[in-house]
Amino acid sequence: MAEVTYQEEIREFGDTYGVQEELLAADTKPLIKGTVAFWDSGQVNWSLYDARVYYRIYPDDKEGRILDCYVVPKFEGRGIATRLVQISEERMKSHGVRKIAGSAQRELHAFWRKLGYSIHPDNEIEKQL
Ligand SMILES: CC(C)(COP(=O)(O)OP(=O)(O)OC[C@H]1O[C@@H](n2cnc3c(N)ncnc32)[C@H](O)[C@@H]1OP(=O)(O)O)[C@@H](O)C(=O)NCCC(=O)NCCS
Repeated sequence: MAEVTYQEEIREFGDTYGVQEELLAADTKPLIKGTVAFWDSGQVNWSLYDARVYYRIYPDDKEGRILDCYVVPKFEGRGIATRLVQISEERMKSHGVRKIAGSAQRELHAFWRKLGYSIHPDNEIEKQL
């Protein structure tokens, strides 16, 4: 099984963002696991971040899935989740993704709607890129 790990560190607006992607040749089709994270400290440390979005990309299907979106309470309400989701969407788009899906608990439906996602009755979220 071929594995390629790709890491990128991005600094913008005085904060530190990082993108880490891992390409896995899964049993039947390729899979990319990606994390976009934010560190207030300015130091990239992949085991200790202040916010992150974790996603998977299935390039053959042109589909992506957001599995986790989290901001530590201290940094909520500053647009950090919005920025991390935008960066994740840009990454997925660059891999040919046309549709992003995910699952969101009811309390967070308004947040995802603001980011342009539609919500299905089973709490699935979806956005066409
Ligand atoms: C939801 C979460 C990702 C939002 O992160 P954030 O960085 O604070 O979000 P942003 O600042 O980018 O907010 C974007 C917009 O969504 C809104 N929003 C954020 N959180 C919201 C929520 N919980 N409900 C409704 N709207 C919300 C913001 O008001 C903002 O709207 P505005 O642009 O009109 O001001 C973050 O609060 C989080 O990780 N919460 C914990 C979620 C969780 O796991 N809860 C259950 C524990 S089991």
